[in-house]
Amino acid sequence: MIDVTLESVSKRFARAGDTAAVDDVDINIAAGEFFTLLGPSGCGKTTTLRMVAGFYFPTSGRIRFGTEDVTRKPPNKRDTGMVFQNYALFPHMSVAQNVAYGLKIRKVGRAESRRRVEEALAQVHLGGYGTRRIDELSGGQQQRVALARALVIRPRTLLLDEPLSNLDAKLREETRAEIRRIQREAGITSIYVTHDQAEAMAMSDRIAVMESGRVQQIGSPQEIYHQPANTFVARFIGRSNVLSLPVVSATATTVDVRLPGGGRITVAAPPEHGLTESATALVSVRPEHIGLCASTEEGALTGRVTELEFTGMATNLIVEIEGEPEGVMVAAVEVPAGLSVGDQIGLRLNADRMWVVRP
Ligand SMILES: Nc1ncnc2c1ncn2[C@@H]1O[C@H](COP(=O)(O)OP(=O)(O)O)[C@@H](O)[C@H]1O
Ligand SMILES: [Mg+2]
Repeated sequence: MIDVTLESVSKRFARAGDTAAVDDVDINIAAGEFFTLLGPSGCGKTTTLRMVAGFYFPTSGRIRFGTEDVTRKPPNKRDTGMVFQNYALFPHMSVAQNVAYGLKIRKVGRAESRRRVEEALAQVHLGGYGTRRIDELSGGQQQRVALARALVIRPRTLLLDEPLSNLDAKLREETRAEIRRIQREAGITSIYVTHDQAEAMAMSDRIAVMESGRVQQIGSPQEIYHQPANTFVARFIGRSNVLSLPVVSATATTVDVRLPGGGRITVAAPPEHGLTESATALVSVRPEHIGLCASTEEGALTGRVTELEFTGMATNLIVEIEGEPEGVMVAAVEVPAGLSVGDQIGLRLNADRMWVVRP
């Protein structure tokens, strides 16, 4: 097992003008870690992964596998296994021939090759499928063939670029658990790319949230969810509300803010938040950390329901409140019977779960 280091890595494409597709990225992925690059389309995830694979060279910066500098090494000298969204399998070849492809290129002997193909197919729970044709398999099975093909060369790192995007919702969930099992059993350092925050949270040891080529935050799913570094991360992960609230007083680790309607609450803040009395704090509060109450209740924030959507697990509401014209999103497990759009409602914020974010 090896760790993978990206050191001040940038990539500019000649025809894309001055803007960097990947801008000064620093990441250290631990040996055996399942690490995810997460962000909206166009934020630089694929470009970053392709630099690790060697399909692109960085404009500046260094990439290391363990202590070895691979920055300028061609892909076939890096021992990386790649899995893509569109599987990239050869449809006219059998499952076994597809999996054996990388071994053939590496001139592995026939008997050894057969043994390793069987082993890789067993690893992805496709033992006995070797003679099947690719077009006889479901999408999920095809993606597992692609995974076997990547693993059979015994790569030093496994790189996966949106591998589940072509699968329907139920199969995505099954296959993501399957990928995690295989990765854990193989103990292989892995970098996974997705734009889907739920997928990233469910699968990853750690996540780098990216936007416009830059890393916005690196942390465990829990850290990113509970302590988002800035407004972008807060809104991208779990669609948090970010309220602008006047600061009454502050300590090194907390900020007292005034709520619309006059109430005061104390919320946790990151180190060196720099907020002082009369500044405006940006405070993140998750939809599930806002409770509903009667609009007449003492200390409640009051507002008007503008949207109401039943999702099964909860009811999502948008409530327009003073100072937040776009409203706040609330995910309520229980709603008062007969509540409908246009009604006045009271909100209670769970101050213990709120967190000051940077702009
Ligand atoms: N080969 C290329 N030539 C020019 N621009 C590119 C190339 N590949 C990607 N880009 C640009 O770099 C940015 C990041 O793209 P990409 O890494 O594919 O994003 P993501 O995978 O996060 O959707 C985008 O603005 C994209 O248009
Ligand atoms: Mg991409």
